[in-house]
Amino acid sequence: MDSNTELLKMCDLRIEFETFEGIATVLDGVSLTLDRGDTLGLVGETGCGKSITAKAILGLLPIPPTRITAGKVLFHQQNLLQTPESKLQTIRGSKIAMIFQDPMTYLNPVFSVRKQMVDVILGHAKRQGRNLSAREAERKAIELLKAVQIPNAEIRIKDYPHEFSGGMRQRVLIAMALSGEPELLIADEPTTALDVTIQAQILRLIRQLVEKYHLSVLLISHDMGVVASVCRRIAVMYAGNIVELTTTERIFTFPSHPYTIGLLQSIPDLYGRKKSLTGIKGSIPDFIHSPEGCRFHPRCAQMMSVCRKVKPVLATIDGNHQAACFLYETSFAT
Ligand SMILES: Nc1ncnc2c1ncn2[C@@H]1O[C@H](COP(=O)(O)OP(=O)(O)OP(=O)(O)O)[C@@H](O)[C@H]1O
Ligand code: SF4
Ligand SMILES: [Mg+2]
Repeated sequence: MDSNTELLKMCDLRIEFETFEGIATVLDGVSLTLDRGDTLGLVGETGCGKSITAKAILGLLPIPPTRITAGKVLFHQQNLLQTPESKLQTIRGSKIAMIFQDPMTYLNPVFSVRKQMVDVILGHAKRQGRNLSAREAERKAIELLKAVQIPNAEIRIKDYPHEFSGGMRQRVLIAMALSGEPELLIADEPTTALDVTIQAQILRLIRQLVEKYHLSVLLISHDMGVVASVCRRIAVMYAGNIVELTTTERIFTFPSHPYTIGLLQSIPDLYGRKKSLTGIKGSIPDFIHSPEGCRFHPRCAQMMSVCRKVKPVLATIDGNHQAACFLYETSFAT
């Protein structure tokens, strides 16, 4: 891959948690790459390590109990894992912005949206060594609220977070995320708390912002439909490993890893046709006593003896399509 276009590169990241019961290996060698202007969806069921991946990029994991035992997170080829906190603060929230599931957790209920946005914009200006007056910061805040399609932005900016609906609050949070003019937006379950109509509006907004600001996006969701509506590529995560990675189109036309196939079988038919929700039997393993070999083997209907002993690596199975499964290794597949 051309390093001029490469924005983020996560290499073989391994993360453990020290718990009372023992060491939990929650990321078991995760590698991902995101180019400028690229949109990558990270999908997998609850507890598989999606948010830990996002927090690791931003240096938001508590150390201890977290231990990063191997790997790199390169942003513009700078390893964020070895970047001092003072420098990280100039990247986090500005070059890399993040939005989360519950906007109310990240908005302060006792301050108006104007105060919170102006403070954030002034903070970015200060870190970049720019002089900006409060009036200029407010003008920028109104511009951003308009960009995320808040009606009557000049008036609504004076309101408090509780005066906005859930969807509107998420728009405010997106506007705040854009205030640092980020190159990369990490959105962790940004629509999970919203009803389907509002969810569709927010996803449409993210697509429009990607175009308008040439943003790169890492969109995290347990919902394949959500990531597919925004992202050009999809990485499927299972129990701390990326098990399949390819274009959105190929994931739907040629899903290859048994886990991906199970995830797709769990999606209800959007056109109302009847479809049995076979899903995937069992649940994600305990990270302290993870199965040897392929972590998916206790749930896999196609499990072979090698799967119990050896961990499959993510390897190319066709063009830009990668999977971590022995079914695609000719020496093992039957
Ligand atoms: N502080 C911690 N100590 C021990 N284990 C933790 C800690 N924080 C997270 N974990 C474990 O790490 C695993 C991955 O968590 P993570 O939050 O990344 O999951 P997720 O894929 O984002 O799930 P969800 O879809 O529910 O948000 C989970 O099994 C979780 O229990
Ligand atoms: S490596 Fe084996 S157990 Fe794992 S998904 Fe492939 S066939 Fe199933
Ligand atoms: Mg999460």
